[in-house]
Amino acid sequence: MSKTHTLLMPLDMHLHLRDGVMLENIAPLTAYSFSGAIVMPNLVPPVETLKDIQAYKARIIAAVPNDYFEPYMTLFYKNYDKKFLESISQEVTAIKLYPAGITTNSEGGVSSFNIEEMRETLQAMSDLEIPLCVHGETDGFVMDREAEFMSIYELLASTFPNLKIIMEHITTKEAVTMLDKYENLYATITVHHLILTLDDVVGGMMMPHLFCKPIAKRPEDLDALLNVALAAHPKVMFGSDSAPHPQHKKEACGCAAGVFTAPISLQLLCEIFEQYDKLDNLQAFVSDNAQSIYGICPEFKEITLEKRPFVVPKDYSGVVPMYAGEEIAWAIESVD
Ligand code: DOR
Ligand code: ZN
Repeated sequence: MSKTHTLLMPLDMHLHLRDGVMLENIAPLTAYSFSGAIVMPNLVPPVETLKDIQAYKARIIAAVPNDYFEPYMTLFYKNYDKKFLESISQEVTAIKLYPAGITTNSEGGVSSFNIEEMRETLQAMSDLEIPLCVHGETDGFVMDREAEFMSIYELLASTFPNLKIIMEHITTKEAVTMLDKYENLYATITVHHLILTLDDVVGGMMMPHLFCKPIAKRPEDLDALLNVALAAHPKVMFGSDSAPHPQHKKEACGCAAGVFTAPISLQLLCEIFEQYDKLDNLQAFVSDNAQSIYGICPEFKEITLEKRPFVVPKDYSGVVPMYAGEEIAWAIESVD
């Protein structure tokens, strides 16, 4: 008999669903196997008003009519006043901060980390218990951007000790070290950053479908990420950062950043955790830690995966996934 593994209420704590036809094609893939996901607000224009949040949530729910799936909504960070934050606090699960221009559709993000300019917003978020999710990269040399951002995390975490700050999609040993330095710092980790180093992206032929921000780093960074993920460190959560782009925008001169993993992320996680004999810790990484950190209680969903070869489709409605056309070791067996 082949080996199986069951997960309860998986959560993707960092997901891009886009909008329009892309949303309609992509959202069902996550809704099939996850109980819920934190949905990123970097649309064009970004999600930044109460109306935007409610309308986007309605479009997501309409795109997944037959599945139970909770979209946990986020707002695009600006220096908002307290009154506005009070008015949206029940509608969002977190607020997502992008440094201006650092990645896809982030032009309207923060251009200077001036604490005095940010104080009202961040203090109000702390008081209202709205977590701050951060894309932590400077505009420095690409391999150093995340490590350079650590001083900004320290400033934010120490100035607002009651504000929950999530270091999104961490890729470095420096970020892993930071986790234990401040009580109010947490992190998400993608599945591709548990597999790739920069070598896989540009070390041989250039692989556009593995190109993302932040870019995959060095072997020692991969080891540090694997250590905390496999141990299901209570401050880390799975967040795929699955970021679909149409094939022509990836296989182009000027490749868009983003790895599309939504339909295969749980299968890949089983493969990694099994390889290190840590399958028992996967439940905490893909759901339990997130439930405690965010204080959320997703609707029941049970998904069983089986260890058997699965050939990843070449594309999903014009979006090429990681490992397109290749065989991976685990497949989804059933979802209840
Ligand atoms: O690779 C990425 N793609 N990183 C991000 O931060 C944004 C994302 C996207 O929206 O495509
Ligand atoms: Zn993202």
